[in-house]
Amino acid sequence: MSAVVPDDERFMAAAIRLSRRNLGLTATNPSVACLIVRDGVVVGSAVTAPGGRPHAETQALAMAGEAARGATAYVTLEPCSHHGKTPPCADALISSGVARVVVSVTDPDERVAGRGLSMLRDAGIAVETGVLETEGRAALTAYLTRQTKKRPHVTLKLAVSSDGMLGRLGEGQVAITGPVSRGQVHVARAETDAILIGIGTALADDPELTCRLPGLESRSPVRIVLDPRVELPPASKLARTARDVPVIVVAAREGEADVPGTPPSGLPAISLSRGEIGWESSFSSSENEESAAPRSDGKETISPSISPLEGEMAGRPEGGNPAAVPGEWRARAAALETLGVEVLICDPHRLGDLLAALATRGISSLLVEGGARTARSFLDAGLVDRIMLFTGPKAIGKGGIASPCVSGRMPQGFALRRTARYGADIFEEYERDE
Ligand SMILES: NC(=O)c1ccc[n+]([C@@H]2O[C@H](COP(=O)([O-])OP(=O)(O)OC[C@H]3O[C@@H](n4cnc5c(N)ncnc54)[C@H](OP(=O)(O)O)[C@@H]3O)[C@@H](O)[C@H]2O)c1
Repeated sequence: MSAVVPDDERFMAAAIRLSRRNLGLTATNPSVACLIVRDGVVVGSAVTAPGGRPHAETQALAMAGEAARGATAYVTLEPCSHHGKTPPCADALISSGVARVVVSVTDPDERVAGRGLSMLRDAGIAVETGVLETEGRAALTAYLTRQTKKRPHVTLKLAVSSDGMLGRLGEGQVAITGPVSRGQVHVARAETDAILIGIGTALADDPELTCRLPGLESRSPVRIVLDPRVELPPASKLARTARDVPVIVVAAREGEADVPGTPPSGLPAISLSRGEIGWESSFSSSENEESAAPRSDGKETISPSISPLEGEMAGRPEGGNPAAVPGEWRARAAALETLGVEVLICDPHRLGDLLAALATRGISSLLVEGGARTARSFLDAGLVDRIMLFTGPKAIGKGGIASPCVSGRMPQGFALRRTARYGADIFEEYERDE
């Protein structure tokens, strides 16, 4: 029988901090950290590698070498117990000769769920769990959401003027917050698997949605546009940069942009989890498997090579949207695909289905950056887990686009977790109470 000792929390806190380093980079696997501690000295430490492999435990054990014998391993998530693309980390810990394993969070993945801990205990290793569990769960929140809710963890980011506006009609991007807040948004982008906007914002602002912090440029997330009628211009920054950082346009079937209920083209698919399955797209055929290669920075490249246009026609010649002229839709989609944009056929108004589809692709965290209607529909669908609210000092006044929520008037069920001052702006972070 093991027991928590005072140093356990100190080393676990260090492991949790380390685990955050590769958030958004580990593809379908969670970013986990492992410290090997012998006589109070860290002899091995590692975080899940970009792309998701190797896992933290095997790297930290390799670093520790013989010093692992009799040591304590601190792991932020229960070591895996199943044979996937890598052998079980529980086996690696057993053969290394560690005497004790301290874990923060038990893995909800049904193929692990306590089995990793049992394997260790059966091998005579002392095991302690639940150490700094709240902090551990916060660092793993995206992975845990995908595992338990089968959808990504959703953060809604809003920059609101002092009079509660997101922008001004017809004016494109309006500066609401200052450089410190904008830097924080870029940090959030770097830690996120995917970022999403509505076509209204894409047309009004022509944003790039990349992470442009010096040194973190390669950590830009996959960019997603809800674009029922495939209106994203090929000349937009998003389309022009699609070969550098993936862009997915989520479109309704041809002629069905205004017909509610188009199911996604490739559901359901697979249960992705740590150590078992690499990148697999439910939308790709087996010939496209090589398109799953991780980008050099560890973010996954989503191949634009799938042809969702083939075999996906709705066969509704009468159409649902008078503006969508048959042929033109196809031509617009083809023009975007030529630039490397993936056109994903899935009614963008069915957010639950879309998020489920994204989860099957291993997207665990999603940053929704507006605009107003998109933010409202995520809130209305109950699909927001966290809100990052930046309130700037200036008013927008006449012609303003109202934000669906402002400081002090948040949707029911959200609790204020943190406030900060970023230059002249106020930042508030809200989380949904579970
Ligand atoms: N301050 C900020 O934080 C911030 C951030 C982003 C944007 N903005 C501002 O917001 C303005 C744009 O906002 P917006 O409301 O016009 O546009 P939006 O929310 O970006 O996009 C709305 C468009 O997306 C389509 N769409 C597809 N699926 C949707 C879904 N599930 N929910 C909602 N819309 C969906 C809508 O199609 P249908 O027509 O078929 O419904 C509509 O055409 C711009 O002025 C921009 O500058 C501000």
